[in-house]
Order: sequence, then structure tokens, then C-alpha cells
Amino acid sequence: MSPFVAGVDADVRTTGRESEPEVFMGQILDNEPLSRTDIAFQAPTQIKFGVGKLANLGEELQIEDDLGDLARVVLITDAALAGLGIVDRIRSGFHGSHYDLVGVFDDVPSDSDVRAVDAAAAFVSENNAEIILAAGGGSVMDTAKAAAVVATHGGRVSDYEGLYIVPGPCIPIVAIPTTCGTGSEVSGGAVIKDHDARTKVILGSPYLFPRMALLDPELLRSLPAHLVAYTGMDAMTHAIEAFVSTDREPISEAIALRAVEMLADNLPLAVADRGNTDALSKVQIAASMGGIAFTNAVLGATHAIAHSIGSLHGLHHGLCNAVALPYVMEYNLRTCPARFAALALALGAERAGRTDAEFASEAVERVRSLNASIGIPGTFEGLGLEGDDATVGDITDAAMNDPCLAFNPRPSEYADIEILVRRCVTGAS
Ligand SMILES: [Fe+2]
Repeated sequence: MSPFVAGVDADVRTTGRESEPEVFMGQILDNEPLSRTDIAFQAPTQIKFGVGKLANLGEELQIEDDLGDLARVVLITDAALAGLGIVDRIRSGFHGSHYDLVGVFDDVPSDSDVRAVDAAAAFVSENNAEIILAAGGGSVMDTAKAAAVVATHGGRVSDYEGLYIVPGPCIPIVAIPTTCGTGSEVSGGAVIKDHDARTKVILGSPYLFPRMALLDPELLRSLPAHLVAYTGMDAMTHAIEAFVSTDREPISEAIALRAVEMLADNLPLAVADRGNTDALSKVQIAASMGGIAFTNAVLGATHAIAHSIGSLHGLHHGLCNAVALPYVMEYNLRTCPARFAALALALGAERAGRTDAEFASEAVERVRSLNASIGIPGTFEGLGLEGDDATVGDITDAAMNDPCLAFNPRPSEYADIEILVRRCVTGAS
């Protein structure tokens, strides 16, 4: 009998089977009932992390059973990254391997677009690509996913709009993120803009998960400080919203909470110094963890507002999230104080004997301080928006129609969101 089993026996002898077992309550969260009793957690993307990993790209693909026999590779990226030498780095990553980089499509705009998808899909087909490398931020990765669908199954991207419409597996994608927030490298979603129709085509499918995410913090070294801050706060928002969403479940909760802690501890260091490899590494890993968490547990009102302000006023998605996040947390505090108390702990606050209700607001203060330390303004007025009725009304209208709002922990009517939006814009209570 193993010592472990013997220990269990000894414990049973001491306490007796008839008596009620003593229950030890956790210190992080209340032992609340599951908010979902039917869970299908998905994180199929293989994550390979390493400083300088891109230099071994060929080896990393070759050792995988399903990728080792493939050879023809197309790279999808954008012109800015091409100018910074991403193509040469990938070519040298394939040095000594059998992989053949048969084509480079570097025409992805900063806002993914249906035309770019059509052009990228045609390029992938013309080159008979067997693997697609997607090196870039969210726009590049989403474009590559949609292009893989169209190149594999034909038609146009709009044919696959919605959930579970993609009919089967696609050309495998190896995602190589060059920002630290989007999470697209580990998600089964893609958002493509149709600039002519002024709409977004949203795709969600298990066939959209990249086959592999290759995380190399060396690729973040040339990212400007403000983009580390914006994309890092996008990742923070993914983790916090997933942790409190109505669709949360324990697997995502665990991943999200650790991602919050890693971002709180490392984002200011990474923003201040892209030479800090450890901080940069943890921010990059936490961004993928946030992506896994929100892919499963969805998001909330911060993203609903950020999507609206981003599309109406052309502001960076991560920046919009960063500004809105503390206001939305404040708005949600009373709905789930224990969860915000747990977030306060992860964000580095000291409980000091306070109850959840007393301690929860520390999470908001911590996010405000974090924002201030990395140069994020406190309101959207600080970014040029005005708090007039028309501006607030337009943002509120769009936010009410955003699918993320349905997963916000506090149920919201139009008037609630209107007040919240006004607070995000002006800071006034
Ligand atoms: Fe986001």
C-alpha cells in the first residue's frame, strides 16, 4: 500500500465515515455553484514558446506528425512587418529544413478587410500552399484564418459568416503573433471588416483555431511602447472579462486569473523596456492565456463599448478597452464582489482583513493605477471624444447591439449603458 493510500485510511479512521467531512473554504473565491453545468472547453492550438524560437521554425514544424510531410508554405503578413525583416527571419528559420517558402502576401491592411481576404485566399490557392504562416497582429491572423477557409472550401468569406458554418478542416495555420494582446493565435474566431458595406463579418468555428501558435518574445522587441501598452491591456481585458462573464467556467477562470497576475506584474516593465526579456515573455504568454480564456468564457461590456468606440471613432481596440475597463469593473462590482476581490488579489492588492464587498473596489483602483503607469488616459475625453448626447447616444446604440454585452455579469438596460458610456467618456459620475 502506498503511503498516500495509507494516509487516507488513517484519516478515515480518525474522522469516521459517518460524520460530515470538514470543508476547507478556499481563500481565492467563494465555493459558489457552477455558473455553467454544461461545458465544452476548447484550446486545441499547440503553443510553442521560446526566446529566439523563430530561428528554429523549420525544426518546430518538422517534428510534428501532421506538419512534417508538408512542404509548401505561404506567409501572410503586412507591409510594415515585411519592412522590419520578418520575411528574412522566417526564411532563415527554415534554413536546413525541407520547407519551401513559396510565396509572401504582405498586403494585409491594419484593419482586416474582405478584399484582403479574397486576395490572400487567391494567393494561397495559386501557390498551392500546404501550410499558412500568419505573422502579425490580430488583423493579419484573422485575415489568414479567413483566407484559409476560402482557399480550402471556395466561395467568399461572407459565405461562412456566423458560428459553426465552416464545413471542415482548412489549410493549417501557424500563427506567429507580433503584438501581445489579440489572442487570435489561440482562438477559433475571425473578425473581417467589409468597408464598402460598413459591416463586420464574424466567423466562429472549431476549424478556425490555428494548428500552432509560435510565441517568440524577440518579435516584440521592436513594438513601440504605446502598442505594448494597448495590446497588453487588451489581453488584461480579455482575462478580466472572461473571469467575471456569465459564461465563465473553472478552467477558463484559472487561466484568466493567472494571466491577470502576470500582466499586472510585467506589463509596466515590458512597456518601459523591451530589453526586459522576462517581462516581455510573460506578457506574451499571458496574452495567449487571455485568448484561451475569452474564447471559452466570452467577454463583456468593456468589449461592447470598445468595439463601438473603435469603429465610430477609429481608436485602437486595446486603447479603448484600457480606458473603459475600470469604469465597467466599477459598474459590475456589486454583481460579483467575490470575483472582483479575487481579481484585486491577482492585481497585487492586500486584503488586510477586508470583506469581499470592501476589498472588491481595490481591483478597480489597481487597474486605474496600472493604466496611469503605462500612459493610458483616464477618459475618452482625453482622446478627443466629447461627452455630448449625440456622441454618447451613438456609442450606446452600438454597444447595445454588440454580442459581448449579453455575457456581462450585470444585466443592462439601455439607460444603464448610456450612463456607463458617459462615465467612460467624461469620467463624471
Ligand atoms: Fe479584445
